[in-house]
Amino acid sequence: MSDTTFTPRVFSGIQPSGNLHLGNYLGALKRFVDWQAKDMETIYCMVDLHAITVWQDPKDLQKSTRELCAGFIAAGLDPEKSILINQSQVPEHAQLAWIFNCVARMGWMQRMTQWKDKAGKNAQNASLGLFAYPALMAADILVYHATHVPVGEDQKQHLELARDIAAKFNHDYGVDFFPLTEPVIEGAGTRVMSLRDGTKKMSKSDVSDASRINLTDDADTIAKKIRKAKTDPDALPSEAEGLEERPEARNLVNIYAAMNSQSVDQVLADVGGKQFSEFKPMLAELSVEKMSPITTEMTRLMQNQDEIDKILTRGSERARAITAPILRQTYEIVGMVPPAEI
Ligand code: TYM
Repeated sequence: MSDTTFTPRVFSGIQPSGNLHLGNYLGALKRFVDWQAKDMETIYCMVDLHAITVWQDPKDLQKSTRELCAGFIAAGLDPEKSILINQSQVPEHAQLAWIFNCVARMGWMQRMTQWKDKAGKNAQNASLGLFAYPALMAADILVYHATHVPVGEDQKQHLELARDIAAKFNHDYGVDFFPLTEPVIEGAGTRVMSLRDGTKKMSKSDVSDASRINLTDDADTIAKKIRKAKTDPDALPSEAEGLEERPEARNLVNIYAAMNSQSVDQVLADVGGKQFSEFKPMLAELSVEKMSPITTEMTRLMQNQDEIDKILTRGSERARAITAPILRQTYEIVGMVPPAEI
């Protein structure tokens, strides 16, 4: 563990690749808002450079990036309190990523389950960027010397790799420069599963739209998807152990708990013994109550694109005040000749 004390700073990111869903909201966005309420610097990023590791239509990418920014704000992020940025507007992310490409080892990347899942059997045809994805992610975090990174469970392995990169850099160059950042994976919402199959993660790439609740779904669609969500025939248990081996039941209870900022035990104390015919309408009502205002606000914000663009420009200026000095020091450590002052 590093001896240097780093200023507490929160960083996290979401890909602007469309279909922002309930998993992103409960696993990330809602928690970003909670962290914003603490007395810490918070930086949240639309990671467009990560998005293009797989093909993105340029027009869709622009729209999704602005939509994601609107989603951040609609969910409760305040651009005055948190620094909101579009990754490509802060060039130090990509610059530090190159250094990290030279620190990370091929074998580390090959072990990443996301690489294996996304590249599949056709790895020879995957982009080099997809392979190097976790080094850019490490750069996102470490270019701020971020100490806390709230993410969903699926990002745990990438964050461990970021620690490995930081540790190897510090060791190779004999410095104590990058923090060994802790992943923050807590609460009931860090692994939201598909509404059609409780053993599969809710995902933007699932072919079935009924498997997820999108942040752009209207109230009727949300209620309908929850009504149709897969369940089992038993009543809900009164304690969390009773949800073992019941992935769909567990998922719906987790969603309820995360949405209502409660623990699973608290929820089960209230709803234990109820049938799904009674619980599903409760969940639908809660979901509509929490999600609809976000959807409405997102749509409103999307009508004022200039405002969104200004927020991102301002965010990148504030971000660069942090990232430029850290990159400059990194270059010095690595032995690059700095530009002369003229
Ligand atoms: P992305 O865009 O896939 O997802 C954004 C966030 O949403 C979480 N998430 C979920 N949480 C709970 N249940 C789900 N079903 C679910 N699906 C997604 C993810 O865990 C994530 O927190 N590589 C990252 C983006 C990234 C990043 C970073 C994150 C790039 N650089 C630096 C943190 C720090 C990604 O693809 O997330």
